[in-house]
Amino acid sequence: MMQTELDLFNPQDPLQPQWVGNQAVLLPGFALPQVQALLPVLREVVAQAPFRHMVTPGGLKMAVGLTNCGALGWVSDRQGYRYSPVDPLSNQSWPVLPEVLLELANRAAALAGFNNFQADACLINCYRPGNRLSLHQDRDERDFTQPIVSVSLGLPAVFLFGGHTRKEPTQRIGLRHGDVLVWGGEDRLRYHGVLPLKPGAHPLLGNLRINLTLRKAG
Ligand code: SIN
Ligand code: FE2
Repeated sequence: MMQTELDLFNPQDPLQPQWVGNQAVLLPGFALPQVQALLPVLREVVAQAPFRHMVTPGGLKMAVGLTNCGALGWVSDRQGYRYSPVDPLSNQSWPVLPEVLLELANRAAALAGFNNFQADACLINCYRPGNRLSLHQDRDERDFTQPIVSVSLGLPAVFLFGGHTRKEPTQRIGLRHGDVLVWGGEDRLRYHGVLPLKPGAHPLLGNLRINLTLRKAG
């Protein structure tokens, strides 16, 4: 029987955790109870540190809009990628990492087996229809024993979860509003990316997808 038929006859409970690696888990809808608290807090963060299109070291302007909150924020420019304690746009500290987000990320990390997650950085990505994120590894952080916790809001996207080399095949993981994905341990350095966002209208976020990735960077 083909895989698609199996799925039809054995639908998985959509709210059950789905392990996508030995130390990587999708938590469908895990953030939904916090969304109403999260959105106004995120609006404040973005008012203080607006989304911007950073330039890669190679000189290309990134299509996805980026900002950060937390003690450290991920930045890219002609000099390279790094974590910075200040927002280069304002020369001020990044906005504080909201408690509601930290608490959510800690609970998600613990479910994935990471009991001592100490996020000090949250990269916020804003995708519009057509925007994609090419395959990359998250390796600008210091401590790879700490996981990445990703929270998706707004329009759904297809997340590509690959292997430890760029060439390995990728799994396609649907990420919807409220989903949380955690990857760490042996899966921490897996290549990942996002397929071009399909147009759509999300009731809360319109034609946007917002992704928050919490990390321990320093
Ligand atoms: C990232 O890899 O930084 C973001 C992933 C995502 O948008 O789901
Ligand atoms: Fe990433």
